[in-house]
Amino acid sequence: MSVPNRKRLNIAVIGGDGTGPEVVAEGVKVLRAVTHLEGITFSWKEFDYGGERYLKTGEVLPPGALDELAAYDAILLGAIGHPDVAPGILERGLLLAMRFHFDQYINLRPVKLFPGVETPLKDKGPDDIDFVVVRENTEDLYAGVGGFLKKGTPDEVASQTAVYTRKGTERCIRWAFEYTRKRNRRKRLTLVAKTNVLTYGHDLWWRTFQEVAREYPDVETDYNHVDACCMWMIKNPEYYDVIVTTNMFGDIITDLAGILQGGMGVAAGGNINPEPGGVSMFEPMGGSAPKYTGKHVINPIATISAAAMLLEHTGFPEAGARVMKAIQVVTGTKMKSQAAGKMGYSTQEVGDLVVDAL
Ligand code: IPM
Ligand code: MN
Repeated sequence: MSVPNRKRLNIAVIGGDGTGPEVVAEGVKVLRAVTHLEGITFSWKEFDYGGERYLKTGEVLPPGALDELAAYDAILLGAIGHPDVAPGILERGLLLAMRFHFDQYINLRPVKLFPGVETPLKDKGPDDIDFVVVRENTEDLYAGVGGFLKKGTPDEVASQTAVYTRKGTERCIRWAFEYTRKRNRRKRLTLVAKTNVLTYGHDLWWRTFQEVAREYPDVETDYNHVDACCMWMIKNPEYYDVIVTTNMFGDIITDLAGILQGGMGVAAGGNINPEPGGVSMFEPMGGSAPKYTGKHVINPIATISAAAMLLEHTGFPEAGARVMKAIQVVTGTKMKSQAAGKMGYSTQEVGDLVVDAL
């Protein structure tokens, strides 16, 4: 008897650089365990893309690599970044290449303080720090539009152009409204931008936001300039429910937000193509932390949360919720800290604890 398609999950796993493979191994361990418990047939294939391979072969992604990845239900990525590779090569050649090729136009970054996790904010707890940033993921300064004039001369000119399209803006904003409605917490969506300075691009965002808002009368809307958002996020994080923002600002504010939820050992993100058949990619937000490579001290919780998001967005929300619950048991009752080397357990032991808590 054949297993119905919806009970099958086949993913591509890219460990990447530094400690990426170590954390991804724990993500896969938890996925194996939870899919077994939920009666889902799970398979995965590992790909060795990253700095080491680039240094050996001179190419970041071999020809046909993106087409091959397209055959999987989703991608789990560890980290990229290699001390011997110049900045931009792996970022543009691998991470941004996947985001753009698969049109993963939503970068979803939940900011949730788990029980037992320390936040640098005084007098704030898990009830106060529980919001989500919806970051546009294919446009803005990341589009790669720009160039040099008279490079290397005293008259050099460099330009880097932020690109915003109506289509790209609207699909992101509409998705954020839908998400806010479904999340059903405070039902408040805050647009974060800089309309007082970016009077073209962010005017397009502002107008689009107002127009789409009319279709969602049940969702309260608000607007923050990005600089003010950085203040409010520290002072009153409980105000936020869902934030929708542009690619570059989303990059910056989610590092700030990541620290509020316990740091890069905990923060995870999804690069989502929400269209039918879209291939999404899930990753811990932290980098490759080369100095910790092979020491088994890095925190896999962010990657395990990314795995939970992967389940949720590939049609297995119960399995995803089960992983999220297990994570909170482990942070709340077992781990001493979320910082690398201070967890009270090794990377593998934290993975085992999550499996036990499933
Ligand atoms: C992130 C990272 C990437 C980004 C880098 C590595 C290109 O900082 O996912 O937030 O800027 O989007
Ligand atoms: Mn970033």
